[in-house]
Amino acid sequence: MKIVLAYSGGLDTTVAIRWLKETFNANVITVTVDVGQKDNFDDIEKRAYIAGAEKHYTIDAKKEFAEKFIAYAVKMNALYEDVYPLATALARPLIAQKVVEIARKENADTIAHGSTSKGNDQVRFDLAVKALYPEARIIAPARIWKMTRETELEYAKQKGIPVKSESSKYSIDENLWGRSIEGDIISDPSVEVPEDAFEWTKRKSTEKIKLTVEFERGVPVAINNEKMELVKLIQVLNEVAGSRGFGRVEHLENRVVGFKSREVYEAPAALVLIYSHKDLEKSTYSPLELRFKKIIDAQWSDLVYEGLWYEPLRETLELAGDNLNKWVSGEVQVEIEGSGMRILGRKPKYSPFSDKIASYNKGWYPTDEMAKGFIEIFGMHSLLTREVRSE
Ligand code: ARG
Repeated sequence: MKIVLAYSGGLDTTVAIRWLKETFNANVITVTVDVGQKDNFDDIEKRAYIAGAEKHYTIDAKKEFAEKFIAYAVKMNALYEDVYPLATALARPLIAQKVVEIARKENADTIAHGSTSKGNDQVRFDLAVKALYPEARIIAPARIWKMTRETELEYAKQKGIPVKSESSKYSIDENLWGRSIEGDIISDPSVEVPEDAFEWTKRKSTEKIKLTVEFERGVPVAINNEKMELVKLIQVLNEVAGSRGFGRVEHLENRVVGFKSREVYEAPAALVLIYSHKDLEKSTYSPLELRFKKIIDAQWSDLVYEGLWYEPLRETLELAGDNLNKWVSGEVQVEIEGSGMRILGRKPKYSPFSDKIASYNKGWYPTDEMAKGFIEIFGMHSLLTREVRSE
């Protein structure tokens, strides 16, 4: 039996290598997908072999993650329950896709991942594998074994398996688009998240910073007039905005699996880009388009959160999103100061805004007659309804 394991290099998946090997008498092939997490991939590979992997792959998927997943997250203003930029959720279908590719190449009929039975990630992972490799058997060791963190550490020690030395007390998931932090004392939603939970958003400077973000067809292409590939642009923004302390999010989140959970995130670039993009959209669209876009944005975000990346509706939502975003080009100026971000101004390329029409000082003015007639007819529904209800 051959098993391909989605391997993060953390405690759970490292223990899983040996556990799978022994429980199923299997050959285990590990796949680590680089989606921008700040890890040492050589160390991860070494750990995989010491734990018992037969073969290991490291796949750099940063560019694909940015261009095929994050670009849509920006176009669709993806914020689950209005706050969470979906970093973890977005990367899961891509990781699953890479693991499936290796499984097919290696003729392996079984795929394994480290998710537990309480999280959303198992749903995202299982559903993506089912869509891409329906014949595959899926094993999630952490759903089967009854080990706590302590027993896992004990197991690792017993078997001589190395664990990541600077292992955090929190459960961390990280990629280009954000860092998710769960567990330990922050599971209690009334507790203020302690500083030691944060890594990307430590305030290194109190100086305000002004940035110009340029978009082309809804996708960010330059910062301060410097054109950059999307991966680079996100890395630069995470660094710059994060160093001011900007980018923290925490809320009591409604998970797919039926309960609420305290979730904490750091996502400086994601928030700067989504807030700026939303402003540019508002400056560009007709009011009807703007209202419609809010609905499809929320649908897209929910579907991604829920692990339904392969739900056919996604394509339809994206087609509509692309069609609207064709006109979302131009610049947005923002200021970041500590944990806050302000929009200072914008220069949309295709805006129906007209100074001549909007200004109080010049140009076009409706006549008194036009204004009166408009107001009378505009308010008629409300006034007539009110009238029949007055007793
Ligand atoms: N609540 C977030 C989500 O469902 C973050 C999950 C974090 N995952 C993790 N393995 N620590 O997308």
